[in-house]
Amino acid sequence: MTTVSTRKPAPAIVDSVLRTIGNTPMVRIKHAQGAVKAEILGKVEGFNPGHSAKDRVALYMVEKAEKLGKIKEGATIIEATSGNTGFSLAMVCLLKGYKCVLTVSSKASDEKLRLLQSMGAEVFICPSSAKADDPDSYYSVAKQLHAEIPNSYYLNQNFDEANIEAHYYSTGPEIWEQTKGRITHFVCCVGTGGTISGTSRFLKEMNPDIQIIGVDAYGSVLKRYWETGEFDEKEAYSYKVEGLGKTIIPGNVDFELFDRMIKVHDKDSAIRARDLAQKDGLFVGYSAGAAMQAVHKLKRELKEDDVVVVLFSDHGSRYLGKIYSDDWMRDMNFLKDKKEESYNSYLYRKYKVRYKRIYNKVNYYINSSLGM
Ligand SMILES: Cc1ncc(COP(=O)(O)O)c(C=O)c1O
Repeated sequence: MTTVSTRKPAPAIVDSVLRTIGNTPMVRIKHAQGAVKAEILGKVEGFNPGHSAKDRVALYMVEKAEKLGKIKEGATIIEATSGNTGFSLAMVCLLKGYKCVLTVSSKASDEKLRLLQSMGAEVFICPSSAKADDPDSYYSVAKQLHAEIPNSYYLNQNFDEANIEAHYYSTGPEIWEQTKGRITHFVCCVGTGGTISGTSRFLKEMNPDIQIIGVDAYGSVLKRYWETGEFDEKEAYSYKVEGLGKTIIPGNVDFELFDRMIKVHDKDSAIRARDLAQKDGLFVGYSAGAAMQAVHKLKRELKEDDVVVVLFSDHGSRYLGKIYSDDWMRDMNFLKDKKEESYNSYLYRKYKVRYKRIYNKVNYYINSSLGM
């Protein structure tokens, strides 16, 4: 009998699912890296129990606030979130006996909203078009709720340093250990800035030569701010990719740590995320595709002996109705080749070419018979 062993050491029993947060695996990307010569390692945060890197942040921030006496028994914890922090926070609150109130941008997918409610959070959906200082924005609504709800605590992941610390004490050391110090580049999407700032602060302390590459979205104000120190409101417009980019400058983005910032488009990010799933079996979120697109943009600079760690922030299941839906991809005009096109648009394209040829031929005969 031929046996195939897939067994790995069984993890220890833990008292709470919260104790399974962190120590996520790192997977070598072999196919979706295409022509990029360097060794590409994905740090797969979807393995956390809440399926994103935000588990680390929610747990650390709540436990730090508890220790400092800022969160009291029976408290309501409030946060403005693009979805992932909300789910992690809802999980932490559920297990620690707090009430969780979340304000979410209307850009968040239905799956994300249902996830938040499944963990018992109360959710307020705010228009994604509202500017940060607009009273309807998810930031303003969160502040307002904090003012109105007694015994409430506003987590404030954009500005509270504990967000950075969560990654300084966990993600950074894990990456250093997993690569045995071989890491040469760290590529990470920038939203609140907590992940890239905390992780990079640790990595730069270990080796200041490690290149830190922040990934921003077209439609966000962060890259221009990093380059010029100016907040250009006119640069902000609505975009599809979730988790990265901002219309405010979060205090938790430590711009000094960045060696490069790269902007990416919605379409390229969606295609790269689908590539990771279809070629490497890694079912990761939309922003993981954004980070991979940034790696591809660095293609000419990366050398064979470079070790590039790319942070994959969350799990693909959050985007079933978006990038993993062919209909959504088609609606957005994101499908890249004819194999992925719908039959109708294929026929349209085919006959458009054929009719053009016939039209040109007829035109030619008419013109030549008229001696033109
Ligand atoms: C899917 C996803 N990717 C990336 C990020 C960016 O992480 P950070 O907020 O630590 O900058 C977030 C943040 O919410 C996210 O939800």
